[in-house]
Amino acid sequence: MAPGLSEVSVKVARYFPTLVFSLEVPDSELLNARLIEAIYAARERDETGVRKSNFPELGGWHSHVKLHKDAAFSGLVQHVDAAAAKMNRELGYHRSYRLKIGTMWSIVNSPGGLNRAHIHPGCIWSGVYYVQAPRNSGRIEFIDPRTQNLMSGVKYITGAKRPRDCWKKVRYKPLAGRMLIFPAWLYHSVGPNRSRAKGKDADRVIVSFNLSQQRRR
Ligand SMILES: [Fe+2]
Repeated sequence: MAPGLSEVSVKVARYFPTLVFSLEVPDSELLNARLIEAIYAARERDETGVRKSNFPELGGWHSHVKLHKDAAFSGLVQHVDAAAAKMNRELGYHRSYRLKIGTMWSIVNSPGGLNRAHIHPGCIWSGVYYVQAPRNSGRIEFIDPRTQNLMSGVKYITGAKRPRDCWKKVRYKPLAGRMLIFPAWLYHSVGPNRSRAKGKDADRVIVSFNLSQQRRR
């Protein structure tokens, strides 16, 4: 190697990133206890629920999508609104608009329940809040949206952790009180609930939502 070549500095620029926001709701125990009560009450009123990415026959229940209109969910709505307002500022969105919840729903995955890979058409951001997440109840997996990149046959060092810039998927462990907000176009799925907890303690319970820009009045 020519002298000095190893000292050449190489700069890297990162463009077109995929942003996943996360936050922990402080003192979420009381909020979660209230949400659990409201969600199971909603399930009793509508046992069939709706079919989306969930599999009812595998133990997955999906509520209707207007939970944000229900007073029992107002505490959570406030946390979502606060996060959305921060994103609105940080992302430089037009101030005449605000990022607002358009739809909100709950999913209860009992053991065996899972969610197939999907996106959320018709909105900008989507989010999930973990109400109850027992051990091994299924991680959410996001897949590299640059499908062309999935074609590359790069060989990486076996057994070594790849640099984050080279990941093609990422999984988050559910944690009660945690919220994730991600692009609505980002493909995601949820692994099967393999919790060994007893009864309802084994359920993976989440509230999910979509955010769109709405003109301020
Ligand atoms: Fe989803």
